[in-house]
Amino acid sequence: MNSDYSDLVGMACRARLNSYSPYSRFRVGAALLGRSGKVYLGTNVENASFGLSICAERAAVFQAVAAGERDFAAIAVCADGKVPTPPCGACRQVLLEFGPDMALLMAGEDGAAGPVKRYTVADLVPEAFRSFEPGSGPEATA
Ligand code: THU
Repeated sequence: MNSDYSDLVGMACRARLNSYSPYSRFRVGAALLGRSGKVYLGTNVENASFGLSICAERAAVFQAVAAGERDFAAIAVCADGKVPTPPCGACRQVLLEFGPDMALLMAGEDGAAGPVKRYTVADLVPEAFRSFEPGSGPEATA
């Protein structure tokens, strides 16, 4: 994989073309690079019952985990529009579970030929919730 992950951005943009998004008409693709070197693709899949829709990033993570990979080097996200779209909060939290240090590339529909922003997942989730103490909920003090 090239060091600016432009290939990964290209894969995310191609995955975006498979988006099932008849309600929002906003297509998003994700390409997640495992430490094994394998790439897992995701796209947003919407539903007539809107709340059942899944974002591209989480679709990619769930596919990778189902394939046995849990350690990731980078994820590229490519969405419709000229400017990079940042991942939603739910996707940030799910990405954090598997790789706070993974590189996160955001691109618009022009892919690596347009503006690309680069962060780590941890950059995007300050003061993250990572774990809890069993028994520390409200019932413990009742
Ligand atoms: N979407 C993603 O796939 N990823 C994000 O991080 C933000 C939003 C999708 C969900 C929905 O299908 C559409 O974009 C509009 O919100």
